[in-house]
Amino acid sequence: MAWFVAAWSCLLVVVMVSSMRLSRSASSSCGSSCGGGHGGGGWGPRSYPVIGCLVAFYRNRRRLLDWYTEMLAASPSQTIVVDRLGARRTVVTANPANVEHILRARFANYPKGKPFTDVLGDLLGMGIFNVDGELWHAQRKLVSHEFSARALRDLEVTVLEAEARDRLVPALAAAAAARGGGGGVVDMQDVLRRFAFDVICRVSLGVDPGCLDPALPAPRLAAAFDTAAGIIARRGAAPVAAVWKVKRALDAGSERRLREEVGVIHEAVMGLIRSRRKERALLLVNGNGVGGARSDLLSRMIECGYPDEAIRDMVISFIMAGRDTTSSALTWFFWLLMRHRGVEAQVLDEIAATRRGRGAGEEGEGLDLDDYRRMRVLHAALCETMRLYPPVAWDSKHAAADDVLPDGTAVGRGDRVTYFQYGMGRMEAIWGADAADFSLDRWLSLPRGGGDGGAAASPAAAAFAGVSPFKYPVFQGGPRTCLGKEMAFVQMKFVASAVLRRFELRPVDEGRTPAFVPLMTAHMAGGLNVTVRRRTPAPASGGAANGTGGELTSS
Ligand code: HEM
Repeated sequence: MAWFVAAWSCLLVVVMVSSMRLSRSASSSCGSSCGGGHGGGGWGPRSYPVIGCLVAFYRNRRRLLDWYTEMLAASPSQTIVVDRLGARRTVVTANPANVEHILRARFANYPKGKPFTDVLGDLLGMGIFNVDGELWHAQRKLVSHEFSARALRDLEVTVLEAEARDRLVPALAAAAAARGGGGGVVDMQDVLRRFAFDVICRVSLGVDPGCLDPALPAPRLAAAFDTAAGIIARRGAAPVAAVWKVKRALDAGSERRLREEVGVIHEAVMGLIRSRRKERALLLVNGNGVGGARSDLLSRMIECGYPDEAIRDMVISFIMAGRDTTSSALTWFFWLLMRHRGVEAQVLDEIAATRRGRGAGEEGEGLDLDDYRRMRVLHAALCETMRLYPPVAWDSKHAAADDVLPDGTAVGRGDRVTYFQYGMGRMEAIWGADAADFSLDRWLSLPRGGGDGGAAASPAAAAFAGVSPFKYPVFQGGPRTCLGKEMAFVQMKFVASAVLRRFELRPVDEGRTPAFVPLMTAHMAGGLNVTVRRRTPAPASGGAANGTGGELTSS
């Protein structure tokens, strides 16, 4: 009997505590459900004492992105509160004023926080991506300087040229020649991921893993990154963190595998740091220290005098940040262009005009950094792609102290606060009634040069500076804005131009609408299988001549 009374008392306490939490931060209007209504002290999924919204969450677990988007659209201020048993209270917002508050105005109150850094710590260590406060600030200062250096930008273009000439174009040409020139099938997502891994390794580490070279065995380093990132993503998505923590303590299952794969990555990077230090010492002895200096990030960090482990963690952060993001955006870009032939024609026109202006020949890409930076239509097409399919679908911070968001939503110390790029790109409250359409017009109709776009912004980016990063936080915004944004745009434009002007891609399955899978970086479920054919030269004005009228939107 005693145990029965004790159990009841415990349950009662839990219910009371839970009810207190539910009412603590109630601030926004209560409503019925849209799957929505009153959840955990704000608009959100239907919640109950103790279990919170566990039932609704479980029902929608396979469509969380759309479920959140629907609830955010129904919420009067595009903010919801998700409170469920086993997880910390989470405020999810698609409200630009809230996003600006979190990312800029009250930046110091919204660090990534321990729950985030715990999940990624084994792989990223103390790298920029995974630290807060002074540790972050010091790295940011150093790394911002390196990212804005001309030498790194030039290195990027050199690497892109080589990777396209030696691997990407030959791989697609081989596919196009298949079936007697009728066109073979490739998974573009896979090709783009391999391409991006080669590029980021050459830029960050100064070595070529040869991922896209069919003549070379699949590199162990790439596999280690893939496996480690997959296990880390599952950690992040686990309903209860204690499970992976116990597995890690016991060195069991996936956690053991993670430790082994991280070991492979650490060993490879440390080996490179040691050999680069030796190389540098030799250059100095031979009096060729400056002339022989490399411009990859790892070598630059060595020049700056950082200790080995700090350099290791920094470059791992760069690889993780730059590895799958551009390939994710490009996969969706090619898919959208296959569905919007008018936009494809417009992009081709701009590429052809830029190449004509430069007098570029058939061989090689023949464009420089500034040519890519000036491409406005392509820039708009990429921005529009990432509005609908952001490579980072959502991103969370953890409140250091109690706060109230501009829309009145109360935030408690320790709460998770998530700004939701995927949902924001689809909010009619932000983009208007045609939010669901793929339309370059919303970018191209912005006044040219309206806004400064930041000191390092490209002419194309400056033209779009009227769009606040807090309304379009695809690259985040505020002090922690993505450092690789410029680099990413150059890479995406380079690949789009190199592929589209030579090859026609058509979906193997015309009727398929692929699923968007968020994980750490979003990807397309099942890949993007396309038939590749050589593109026949188009008339000077592709858009008008092919009967599409060069329209900006198409169904
Ligand atoms: C389309 C491509 C890309 C997108 C959409 C993107 C997006 C983002 C986002 C949303 C963040 C914030 C993430 C967070 O704080 O948790 C971020 C941070 C970062 N990104 Fe990118 N990124 C892209 C490409 C790149 C590339 C190619 C690099 C180059 C290495 C890069 C380097 C970084 C770094 C170093 C940070 C950390 C900045 C900091 O914490 O201060 N990104 N990026």
